[in-house]
Amino acid sequence: MLIDRSSWRMHAVAITLAMILFLGLTAWYLAESWLAGRLLGGGSLPGLVLGSVAAMIIFFEMGLWPRKALRRMRLVRVKYWLSAHIWFGIVCLPIAIVHSGFHWGGWLSTLLILALVLTVASGAIGLALQNMIPRMLLKQVPGETIYGEIENISRSIVLEADQLLNATCGTRDAVMTQQLGIGEMTRFRELLGSDPEVQMTRMIVIGAPREAGRRREGYQESRAATAEQDDSRSLWNAYDELKPFLLDGVTSGRVFGDPIRASGWFGMLRQACSADAERVIGPLERLTDQRRQFSLQKRLHHWLHMWLPYHIGLSVGLCVLLLAHIVFALRYW
Ligand code: HEM
Repeated sequence: MLIDRSSWRMHAVAITLAMILFLGLTAWYLAESWLAGRLLGGGSLPGLVLGSVAAMIIFFEMGLWPRKALRRMRLVRVKYWLSAHIWFGIVCLPIAIVHSGFHWGGWLSTLLILALVLTVASGAIGLALQNMIPRMLLKQVPGETIYGEIENISRSIVLEADQLLNATCGTRDAVMTQQLGIGEMTRFRELLGSDPEVQMTRMIVIGAPREAGRRREGYQESRAATAEQDDSRSLWNAYDELKPFLLDGVTSGRVFGDPIRASGWFGMLRQACSADAERVIGPLERLTDQRRQFSLQKRLHHWLHMWLPYHIGLSVGLCVLLLAHIVFALRYW
């Protein structure tokens, strides 16, 4: 739930009511304790009332679950319920602490307070994430898309990049093998063995200008490439490095996932190519930027939703402990 200018009135009402409840009960408890000359425990009248109020708040908090499932029913609107959920949930913790008379008690009541602390903390973390992440998405992911479509769109990004390289540089196979004559190619394939994957990788190394130092002697005499051919090879080599990132947004993420490093990488590619190559490098850089935004969107989406199962799990645990606490407390009262 967003807490912003448009919703502050609603939250102000819930905060005021929650604070009146907490401060009123605490003032009464302190007054009774002062009269008794000691801090009253959970079994005293104010202690029992505080405990019952805390328990009712917890059951009310759990009510958000069915309320959200029955969204269409003409009950209190979910946003009002949620606002009350947040602020009454927060005051529930100090109310429970005052109810305990500021003592841990036995293992069950200690567990109960711990569960309450964790539940409130997980809710507060979730609330903070719900308020921070949409703003981050707006700022850092201007190209935000439908979450479920990210994989499909990433595949079309790769398709677009493939088409761009094929159209401007020629097909990958043709570019990577154009340095070698037919006879040389046959000898080369014999040398490398039969695995086409291995052959291709090694051919890239031989064809790549920045790997020139590793060229095998037998292929040094390959035809001098034109500047355009060199560009094509450099671009295909670069694309081989980039493509896995465009596909999954993870591989080589340390380079392409970081805008500064990626910009350095594209800068080096520009230096290695002629000015003409910009018509490929520019679009590739834009597609990389788009893919990086999708990866960030996925990560933020994960953070936005991952806390809720913990919050719900802790709440259920809290209710079980609360019921056990009520049964034991009434039995020995
Ligand atoms: C005191 C104990 C609490 C209990 C037992 C409790 C229980 C629950 C339950 C069962 C849900 C699930 C509703 C659903 O999405 O189906 C929920 C959601 C939520 N709770 Fe709590 N909660 C507690 C305290 C808090 C506190 C203190 C906060 C905030 C400071 C908080 C914030 C939230 C938020 C933001 C949601 C998600 C609502 C949404 O879908 O946007 N909760 N809580």
